[in-house]
Amino acid sequence: MRRLAADIDADALVEAARAVRANAYAPYSRYRVGAALLAEDGRIFLGVNVENSAYPSCLCAEHGAIAAAVAAGAHKFRAIAIVTEPKPGAQPGAPCGKCRQVLSEFGLDLVVILAGLSGAHETTTLRELFPRAFTAEDL
Ligand code: THU
Repeated sequence: MRRLAADIDADALVEAARAVRANAYAPYSRYRVGAALLAEDGRIFLGVNVENSAYPSCLCAEHGAIAAAVAAGAHKFRAIAIVTEPKPGAQPGAPCGKCRQVLSEFGLDLVVILAGLSGAHETTTLRELFPRAFTAEDL
């Protein structure tokens, strides 16, 4: 388990993601996801997955949190907590490939906290989850 920077309150971020997860709209998969994104200025932006009867139109929780943050003028982020309910014995869900790409636009040093409903969490970084990312440097 990675040590967090002293000013990242992982428990508070996980709690925010856990609470907003209740609002996930997931009638098709029944797999609810809550995300809480900590901006550099201390603001926390929330997202949930929003499913759609046309399945490819589903929105992931992480993408929703990024959209809320950008709409509020935030572009610098320190950490994101993602809360899912893993199957018994399984690990909490990690961001999908598209969400890794979406998050990477704002920096690979993002701390990523993966939590299940039990409260236990694993801490990693986007750089670790998304090696050899395609970035603006490639353009
Ligand atoms: N989901 C997320 O919200 N984030 C991810 O990174 C992975 C998947 C959602 C999409 C869909 O509503 C449900 O989880 C099952 O794939």
